[in-house]
Amino acid sequence: MCCCEKKDPKQEALEALLAKYKSQKGALIPVLQQTQDIYGYLPKEALQQISRELKIPLSEIFGVCTFYAQFHLSPRGRNIIRVCLGTACHVRGGAKIFERVQQELGIKDGETTEDLRFTIESVACIGACGLAPVIMVNDDTHGRLTPDQIPDILAQYE
Ligand code: FES
Repeated sequence: MCCCEKKDPKQEALEALLAKYKSQKGALIPVLQQTQDIYGYLPKEALQQISRELKIPLSEIFGVCTFYAQFHLSPRGRNIIRVCLGTACHVRGGAKIFERVQQELGIKDGETTEDLRFTIESVACIGACGLAPVIMVNDDTHGRLTPDQIPDILAQYE
């Protein structure tokens, strides 16, 4: 690389991370966690670099990434919407809420809008059954919902 060319700060952070963990055993999970903190998800190029530096086959790394729900292989939205489909929410119309969120954003469960504004995830129970049906946007709980409230709620998040 030419000396006047500026390195990507994320790439630099990844290199520093790999230098730190290179000779440590059992480093894969902490390296993946910290790589995800750097990028917001685990880009394929970063995984290839981890594979080279830690000398772990890429297939093994993918296996770990797909096993643990905490790892994401594609970019995630700035706002994460968790739609509860647990029993209490289901009984009180959770499926209709879920349908409306997907319809408003034009994406399905687990997907992210193209502008990276939202990611939708269905969840089993978020521990607010008394407020069913419930969604969470980031750390905010929105309960006792009707589908028609969804557009106004989404409008609160940039
Ligand atoms: S079932 Fe939805 S919050 Fe518990």
